[in-house]
Amino acid sequence: MAIQVEFKTSGKTAQWEDRYETLLDMMEANGIKVETECEAGICGTCKTRLLSGKVEMEVEDGLDEDDIEQNMILPCVATPVTDIVLEV
Ligand code: FES
Repeated sequence: MAIQVEFKTSGKTAQWEDRYETLLDMMEANGIKVETECEAGICGTCKTRLLSGKVEMEVEDGLDEDDIEQNMILPCVATPVTDIVLEV
């Protein structure tokens, strides 16, 4: 089943496609701006709040405990597991 990704602040919803390696790829393809640096889950620059749904992340080094409590994710290493809503 197709996974929907909603970008709340940007007012956009798009369908996840297999060609995307990460949420960051998808955001760039949909014109959603996010600052990045390492693109490897380490620096935390890209962190974005997940409002609902579930993602998988290969690396979470860029998140501290507060970030995790606030549902921050790292789009540069994340892929959606369910339909998700991101704050951006
Ligand atoms: S750009 Fe560094 S953690 Fe995503």
